Amino acid sequence: KLIYILNGPNLNLLGKRQPEIYGSETLADVERDCIRVASDLGLQVRFLQSNAEHQLIDWIHEAREDAAGIIINPAAYTHTSVAILDSLNAFDNPIIEVHISNVHKREPFRHHSYVSSVASGVMAGFGTQGYQLALQRMAVLVAAANK
Ligand code: DQA
Repeated sequence: KLIYILNGPNLNLLGKRQPEIYGSETLADVERDCIRVASDLGLQVRFLQSNAEHQLIDWIHEAREDAAGIIINPAAYTHTSVAILDSLNAFDNPIIEVHISNVHKREPFRHHSYVSSVASGVMAGFGTQGYQLALQRMAVLVAAANK
């Protein structure tokens, strides 16, 4: 089973950007950890990042063809993008939203997520470990969907 892990704007700078908030691991480190955890769970991952809203939407459309689930950190688009919400609403398999930081203890504009209404669950504030925890949950959701 293939899981898409999608990352939104500025996450290419992970490890360099505000490390006091987002930690020192790079996105390549996160990808490597996700591939390892996924293979232990019997899952494959397609790990992607873009700074462009349309690219994220195109990947969500592609996921309709071949993904058993989507794990998405939409980054700032979390708080702004009806378009990403609409594309996720066209995806029929489980979706998990991930935020590295605890968005609820940050600025009020980060407290609302357009994406949460379509997510099975939300990980926030667990650092980059949140991706691995999301994969563990995704394995359970995918297995339940195949029963
Ligand atoms: C983020 C939180 C967002 O508010 C922010 O815009 C990001 C990253 C996180 O992973 O904590 O870019 O999604």
